[in-house]
Amino acid sequence: MADNNLIRPDDNIQIPVHVGVIMDGNGRWAKKRGLPRKFGHREGAKNFRTITRHAKSVGVKYITFYAFSTENWKRPKDEVDAIMELFEKYLDEVRDFIDENIRVRFIGDRSGLKETLQRKMASVEEDSKDFDSMTLVLAINYGGRDEICHSVRKIARMVKDGELQPEDITRDLIEKNLYTEEIPPLDLVIRPSGEQRLSNFMIWQAAYAEFYYTNILWPDFRSEDFDRAVIAYSERNRRFGGI
Ligand code: IPE
Ligand code: IPE
Ligand code: MG
Repeated sequence: MADNNLIRPDDNIQIPVHVGVIMDGNGRWAKKRGLPRKFGHREGAKNFRTITRHAKSVGVKYITFYAFSTENWKRPKDEVDAIMELFEKYLDEVRDFIDENIRVRFIGDRSGLKETLQRKMASVEEDSKDFDSMTLVLAINYGGRDEICHSVRKIARMVKDGELQPEDITRDLIEKNLYTEEIPPLDLVIRPSGEQRLSNFMIWQAAYAEFYYTNILWPDFRSEDFDRAVIAYSERNRRFGGI
């Protein structure tokens, strides 16, 4: 809601170009209410749409949400099934973003997902590819280490086929073969729920990101909390190794 915005258009605030959000704390949110964990995931999924719209309104150009990691398959099957079902449902609703001029992209290993889901992902990406007010990136079956392996494997194939010499392998080339391709590096990573770790989220792209942690659980994370993170970011002194 506009009234709750802490950031005003004429404020002299440095807006991060790319924000990553580790949507954590759904399970604890449900547990606190005596509900099964899947209810927490449902609330969390609702929240990501609110925060996407809000991020666009403050001028963020790229926002990536970590929705399911390559390690999350370790969870009980009924929880994983519930999360996958939510993806199916929310992918239909993500289509609304197309009318809001938002491009939608997915990162992660799609081959591990159900075919119906893969098809929906491909069609949302295709239908939104010409929109440019903001890019919404959803990380599903995503792992940073996995992503780097995937890039290295592609490059190794090019070397094997004689298209490339080992000396041609540069930082740029590795980057171009990541799932994120032309998506810029992360400026700010927000992690709710009190945990202070990356949990394999965009380890390459976060090399010089600023981190913002809060104890608020993801389903309770509001637009004002997003603004607080952006304000904190704007007060940081980014040196990138310089002085
Ligand atoms: C994040 O919430 C959602 C996913 C990892 C899919 P969690 O389910 O990890 O919630 P907590 O950390 O158990 O509270
Ligand atoms: C990170 O949360 C993954 C997502 C939010 C999708 P986890 O809850 O899986 O992370 P850990 O296990 O606490 O590190
Ligand atoms: Mg968690």
